[in-house]
Amino acid sequence: MAKRPSVIPVAQPCDQLTREVVDGLRKSPKELSPVWFYDELGSDLFDRICELPEYYLTRTELSIMQAHAADMARQIGPQVAVIEFGSSTGLKTRLLLDQLESPVAYVPVDIAREQLFDTASGLARDYPELRVMPVCADFTQPFDLPKQIAAAQQRVVYFPGSTLGNFTQSQAHRLLSRMHQIAWPNGAVLIGIDLKKDPRMLELAYNDSAGVTAQFNLNALRHLNREVGANFDLHGFKHQAVWAENASRIEMRLISQRDQVVSLGGARIAIKDGEYLLTECCHKYTLDGFAKLAAESQLTVAHVWTDTEQKFSVQLLRPNVPTRS
Ligand code: TRP
Repeated sequence: MAKRPSVIPVAQPCDQLTREVVDGLRKSPKELSPVWFYDELGSDLFDRICELPEYYLTRTELSIMQAHAADMARQIGPQVAVIEFGSSTGLKTRLLLDQLESPVAYVPVDIAREQLFDTASGLARDYPELRVMPVCADFTQPFDLPKQIAAAQQRVVYFPGSTLGNFTQSQAHRLLSRMHQIAWPNGAVLIGIDLKKDPRMLELAYNDSAGVTAQFNLNALRHLNREVGANFDLHGFKHQAVWAENASRIEMRLISQRDQVVSLGGARIAIKDGEYLLTECCHKYTLDGFAKLAAESQLTVAHVWTDTEQKFSVQLLRPNVPTRS
């Protein structure tokens, strides 16, 4: 066994966080991690986004679940353990659980502890037969599943909300490969994927007329000011969501309204008039494009449910026999 060094450098999480922010702001274009959206205010704003008239995603996904959860449940089969990547309000999960035949366990995995336990305790109360076992972890990193789910016939990963679209191609590939591992050999992945469509509809969805998405985006700066002592002027930036055709994604941007200098963690970052910070990407897929992405992670699309206008899709993926790489 390797000998441990006698002096272990102590990680300073705060400094490291600040360094990561500074590194992102030194890129071109400048980047900010979407994790900064989410404090208490950010989570409330996000819930409001999901109810906006222009934001068709949540409503459409819910309508697909309402119409087809029974069919999904039939294809998934009895006595499964459902492993959800993330934990939202639990609304879509309930639509699924209501239709599944004797599900044995529900394992939501989320880094946001409070939301995780709120959702989990609500479900445990309403589904007394179900073992609800929340795992507080970052699902983009390897995590352990509770041993008790071994009793299930199979494992089904549930990943709603088109959250996969918020990851880069290589991150998405890695996440899908983890889901493959969990679902293997006879389980499945049930995933919500937003579909490519008229860019005007996409841009409207992320540039709502009430300005809620703008507040949500700007909240990242407020959060940074508070947490790492940055001095962003919230009036110095304007939200804009832009469709980037070449990358097939909506880019959430904060556009600097003038030449300005921001200080954080001892660093000074010059931002030019019109220059933007990229805060989040929302990739949109064609059905073919997503099937190819899934195939790269050894997942085969077994069924696709969509709304009549093909705005959004919920897809059932089955794991292929893993190939050695
Ligand atoms: N995954 C959803 C989407 O891409 C929800 C979401 C994530 C979102 N980050 C966002 C919505 C930022 C608006 C702004 O739409």
